[in-house]
Amino acid sequence: MNRPKEIFMMTFPLILLLGVLSCLYLESCSAKKEIQLIDSEPYPIEIPKGFPDIKIPEGNELTKARVALGKKLFFDPILSVDSSLSCGSCHLQKNAFTDLRTTSIGVEGRVGPRNTPSLVNVAFNPYFFFEGGSPSLEAQSLGPIETFHEMDFNAALLTKRLAADEHYQKMAQEAYGMEMKLFVIVSALASFERTLISANSPYDRAINGDSSAMTPAQWRGKELFFSDHTNCASCHPAPLFTNFSIENIGLEKEYQDKGRYRVTLKNEDIGKFKTPGLRNIGLTAPYMHDGSLESLDMVIEHFNVGGLGHKNQHPLIRPLDLSDHQKKDLIAFLHALTDQDVLLKPEWAP
Ligand code: HEC
Ligand code: HEC
Repeated sequence: MNRPKEIFMMTFPLILLLGVLSCLYLESCSAKKEIQLIDSEPYPIEIPKGFPDIKIPEGNELTKARVALGKKLFFDPILSVDSSLSCGSCHLQKNAFTDLRTTSIGVEGRVGPRNTPSLVNVAFNPYFFFEGGSPSLEAQSLGPIETFHEMDFNAALLTKRLAADEHYQKMAQEAYGMEMKLFVIVSALASFERTLISANSPYDRAINGDSSAMTPAQWRGKELFFSDHTNCASCHPAPLFTNFSIENIGLEKEYQDKGRYRVTLKNEDIGKFKTPGLRNIGLTAPYMHDGSLESLDMVIEHFNVGGLGHKNQHPLIRPLDLSDHQKKDLIAFLHALTDQDVLLKPEWAP
């Protein structure tokens, strides 16, 4: 047997005891040192009036260091296999964190099957992806990294790549008191995304007392939106303009992308997709899971005719018989949900 190792094994308990004692008396134990490396200054976050609380998993409380690391990762193309695409290449601040494409384009120009959703107010979502198949922002972020038509990379290789970078290692220590690993990557990305909160649209200012913040057409559109005539607000209630229910709105007669069915394999779930929030909707054309409706006019027309009549279609999707004026008012109201701050906040810029 190897002598030095044997000696070490025999003296190990003693070394440990000395360590604990020096910890107690000299306050210099390594565990303590590691904790001192963590920068735990909280990231101040304000939940807008009337919004629900956000759920943050234990161990990933929002701190400035975590958000800073998450932001750096979000805008770093190092996350994709060929270092060509970052999260921010598809989720662009100037488009309210969408890409204005029909469906997304990943590494090597690979066209994906779905339209890129906005990440604004994503902290309030109870589940993620159009079929609601991912339970948390932490779990979600591995999706784009590993998906063939998005970043097409691999968690283990990405961790290795980032661990080789001194700056990332330092930030990981500061943010989580540990070396760069997958937990750090997904937790930090989720932390940054949770800060993307928006509630300063003309609609918000109007309902908080400044009635001149919305035009007369927008006020009329608001009435219609919240009425039993359109029932828009049954699925898109304030303040987030979604109840997150997963519904079939008769967008297609035969769904290529079967939506919720992909998770449950139940026929009654074919063509069901998560109801999107409508804040900043004026900035995020084209619309729907497949980007098939190019404009808000087309969306309103879709609801006005009552969908294409799929067998799983929700009963509230039925002909509305809206006049041209009413359609215009509804669209005007949807534009009142745009918060220009989203496009300007330096904290959210690359
Ligand atoms: C190639 C473009 C592309 C890239 C790169 C990309 N995304 Fe996405 N993102 C999408 C598309 C498309 C969807 C919708 C996917 C679906 O529902 O199947 C999406 C969905 C999401 C969602 C779910 C939103 C919701 O409301 O359910 C989050 C969160 C998200 N992306 C965050 C990220 C993060 C974090 C990264 C980087 C690690 C990233 N995305 C990289 C295109 C992209
Ligand atoms: C039965 C629930 C339901 C009702 C009622 C409803 N919607 Fe929706 N809405 C949805 C779902 C689900 C989607 C996403 C469908 C998809 O991607 O295939 C959606 C998508 C949208 C979109 C596109 C969002 C995006 O980001 O692509 C807009 C805009 C919209 N609805 C506005 C309205 C308006 C205006 C009304 C009333 C005239 C209305 N909705 C009524 C459930 C509903």
